[in-house]
Amino acid sequence: MPISINSQIEAIQISGIRQFSNQLVDFPDAINLTIGQPDFPTPEPIKQAGIEAIRHNHTNYTHNAGMLELRTEIASFFQDTYELNFEPKTEIIVTNGASEGLDSLFRAILEKGDEVILPAPAYPGYEPIIKLCGGKVVYLDMSDTGFQPDPTRLESLITDRTKAVLMNFPSNPTGVTMDSTQLEKVAAVLEKHEVFVVTDEIYSENAYGDKHVTVAHFEKMRNRTFLVHGLSKSHSMTGWRIGFVLGPEMYMKHVLKVHQYNAICASVPSQYAALEAVKNQRHVPAEMNKEYVKRRDFVYSRLTVMGIDVILPKGAFYIFPSIEKFGMTSFEFATRLLREAGVAAVPGSAFTRYGEGFIRISYACSMKDLEEGMNRLEKFIQSLT
Ligand SMILES: Cc1ncc(COP(=O)(O)O)c(C=O)c1O
Repeated sequence: MPISINSQIEAIQISGIRQFSNQLVDFPDAINLTIGQPDFPTPEPIKQAGIEAIRHNHTNYTHNAGMLELRTEIASFFQDTYELNFEPKTEIIVTNGASEGLDSLFRAILEKGDEVILPAPAYPGYEPIIKLCGGKVVYLDMSDTGFQPDPTRLESLITDRTKAVLMNFPSNPTGVTMDSTQLEKVAAVLEKHEVFVVTDEIYSENAYGDKHVTVAHFEKMRNRTFLVHGLSKSHSMTGWRIGFVLGPEMYMKHVLKVHQYNAICASVPSQYAALEAVKNQRHVPAEMNKEYVKRRDFVYSRLTVMGIDVILPKGAFYIFPSIEKFGMTSFEFATRLLREAGVAAVPGSAFTRYGEGFIRISYACSMKDLEEGMNRLEKFIQSLT
């Protein structure tokens, strides 16, 4: 008999994205449209800053919350970009990616039985963290509301057990974001209820069109909103592992304790690279966005011509077309698309059951791959009808 391990961990499944992408090794010629990270290299000056940090032996622990110089620069970025006012000494923690930030944050605020409202389809990284804290996820269905959270529906889910509402706009997997009118309606509900708001805005710099608006801006919620961010997507730095959590001092001191005991501090050469990114490379995401917009427009128009229902995404680098009319589950559809046509896209069911009936296509890949991918998808669809 094996020695028993934590039953909560045992019950957790590997993510649906990983389950699906594990199959890819058997299809080396497939066009891979499952990628969840930018296809650009980290910009040269950022890499150099990391290299210089190592050369100069900046390889010791920093303050648990990260170098003050970096936190000060992060504060000035959020001030300049979104008019948000966070105190670098007490309200900002640099984490090992947004992932560790979310983990530290939820471990600091959740108790057994607490409910977290999660608009879905949603990024698969949230639910396991919440469950491991003994919390329960309550889904807010967005599958029939254009992937926008419906304020009335949101309000109907808030109970005495609700501890937090977790939002992610621009969204992984849908690419949809909230404009200021929609956000105001949602904020009007949130303002009425004493719950934490956790806003994962890791794709905020990859919002196209209108300027990104953040829920952290609403004065009435400032004292209970946590903003989770990072450089993985904005500066193509997924492997450097740099994230930020910003929030009210009275709660952040507790988040810092969790972060301190699970990480001590974020990787130090990466903190130096992050300093360069936040201080001198703020223009980088806009340059990448120009490319993403071209690709998004291409994929959107091809899907539309194929007669597929799809919402035009306004951010991130994902598009989430409906495959419902083909009468298969999203897993079946994605598996057949891979096996029969050599195109890999993530089944929508990997993003909770509210993603069923859709597939996620990432356009963080070359135009050549997108063209070939769309040609193959078109042929595959023709073969079904
Ligand atoms: C919505 C969302 N949040 C968080 C993360 C994790 O980001 P990080 O690399 O900073 O841990 C991802 C990564 O795909 C994501 O899509």
